[in-house]
Amino acid sequence: MHHEVPAQPLISLSGEVVLVTGAGSGAASGPHEGRQSAPKDLWGIGAAIAAYAALAGASVGVLDVDLTSAQRTVERLVTVDPTASARMIALGADVTDEMQVVTAVERLRRERGPLSGLVNNVGIGGPGGTAAAVDLDGWSAAFEINVTSMVVTTRIALPDLERTHGGIVNISSLAGIRGGHHGLSYPTTKAAVIGMSQTMAGHHGPAGVRVNTVAPGLLHTPMVANRGLSEERRRTRAAASMLGVEGSSWDVAGPVAFLLSRAASWITGVTLPVDAGLSAIAPNLGVAARDA
Ligand SMILES: NC(=O)c1ccc[n+]([C@@H]2O[C@H](COP(=O)([O-])OP(=O)(O)OC[C@H]3O[C@@H](n4cnc5c(N)ncnc54)[C@H](O)[C@@H]3O)[C@@H](O)[C@H]2O)c1
Repeated sequence: MHHEVPAQPLISLSGEVVLVTGAGSGAASGPHEGRQSAPKDLWGIGAAIAAYAALAGASVGVLDVDLTSAQRTVERLVTVDPTASARMIALGADVTDEMQVVTAVERLRRERGPLSGLVNNVGIGGPGGTAAAVDLDGWSAAFEINVTSMVVTTRIALPDLERTHGGIVNISSLAGIRGGHHGLSYPTTKAAVIGMSQTMAGHHGPAGVRVNTVAPGLLHTPMVANRGLSEERRRTRAAASMLGVEGSSWDVAGPVAFLLSRAASWITGVTLPVDAGLSAIAPNLGVAARDA
């Protein structure tokens, strides 16, 4: 529904120190480079979350395996709000490499103070195919990036989060809460993120650390645009939701900021679909309900 950088975030993250992984994603960047190029005004989900958090007053570690793309996220915000952009630090690190993440977190802590928020946003599509065909090496690699990396970053951030009584938001997907995906690997990793987050919430709640999940629906993002989604398919996808409106990364960034914020201090272990109601619809029954 919101396709532009918000002028005025509704959430305050003033004084917070937040690390966002996979925050370099943006138009014509990332692993899809060279394929159909996304419109220049599109922001990736991690980049939008990082920008929104900075606009809301947080110091933000903009972490990506591709340092140049992380720097681009910081630069993109300069034109919108130079002060917010100055609160960001671009960090190059591969989330599957523990030492690289340790180094990045140490720098963020040294320059901005202990972490009070962690957004585990990195996720890849993984190999396609059903159980009959999926490549098992690709399957293991997808689990390492989409699930295991979140354990590693959490482990590294926990001492700070316990000190600050902070929060973690893990990014899943509509694909992780509903069937119907063409491949087996991606939804399986995204469902694992939900189970992992709920269990982590129980483990770390007594120390004052909240762990929640956001499950975005069918958005228009650089990743999706680079796949070459037709205008007609975009309209059909948007019309399928309860609101009938296409979403962008900014529609995800606000709810993530809310869950990180002190306004959500009594919320942990939840999975929040951000999907214009799509996950609440049983498509076949939906037709019957309209007729009733
Ligand atoms: N795009 C959508 O419509 C959609 C919908 C539902 C859920 N999601 C989820 O949202 C998250 C972000 O999606 P997106 O569309 O912005 O993805 P994206 O591919 O555009 O961006 C992901 C970013 O992560 C970075 N990255 C990849 N591997 C990394 C690693 N090992 N270490 C550090 N950085 C790494 C990439 O360089 C890239 O900048 C993912 O978890 C995805 O599964 C996306």
